[in-house]
Amino acid sequence: MDLFGAKWAEIQYNQLNDGSAVAVREAIAADIPRIREYIDQLSPDDRYLRYMSSISIDALKDGDRLERIYKTSLEAEFGRRHVAFVVERGAHILGVVHAWEREVYSAVYELSYSRRSDHEGCGVGGILMNTILDWARASGVRTLVADTLRENHRMRKLFQISGFQEGKNPDDPSVVHYTRIVTPSS
Ligand SMILES: CC(C)(COP(=O)(O)OP(=O)(O)OC[C@H]1O[C@@H](n2cnc3c(N)ncnc32)[C@H](O)[C@@H]1OP(=O)(O)O)[C@@H](O)C(=O)NCCC(=O)NCCS
Repeated sequence: MDLFGAKWAEIQYNQLNDGSAVAVREAIAADIPRIREYIDQLSPDDRYLRYMSSISIDALKDGDRLERIYKTSLEAEFGRRHVAFVVERGAHILGVVHAWEREVYSAVYELSYSRRSDHEGCGVGGILMNTILDWARASGVRTLVADTLRENHRMRKLFQISGFQEGKNPDDPSVVHYTRIVTPSS
């Protein structure tokens, strides 16, 4: 499915490092209540790494914010400027990856990742990474970019082993900029 079409894929199945099964699929507006529950499970440290600020749980769970992210932009009628995938087990979301188009029709997408703090080291991040790379290859995305804090070793390792090039953020030495060129076979 191309960038501007309907949902990229149906549910896919994967395994965490302990062998337990998880489902992976695109996020939809009906996920909002479960996203709220998911946000409750993000530790202060993980929220800081994700948002580069001490944003509160209440601010993240704000109804207008969630509606804008998980309904308005995911269901946009013209163009697909945002996609999000969730890893879930049963009724619980374990992790989310977002890809936001940087500029209209640029095919350059900016990534952000998170997973439940009580699932550190379970492999959720790797599944999110593989999912978004598969989507990008299949969707005509040309470049993926991301900024992450220099101190964010787990995220940085995941970018490094996934073929992202590391660069400096000239405006902020505490932030590392990652770029990955996408081709159908890369
Ligand atoms: C960044 C984040 C999403 C990574 O998710 P995660 O579930 O912890 O990552 P994983 O368990 O899949 O990977 C963790 C480890 O396995 C390694 N790994 C994953 N896939 C691998 C592979 N295919 N080959 C080798 N190593 C791999 C990772 O490099 C990492 O190594 P480490 O244990 O030495 O740190 C998670 O730490 C998080 O949510 N952090 C808070 C929010 C955040 O920082 N977001 C990023 C801002 S963009």
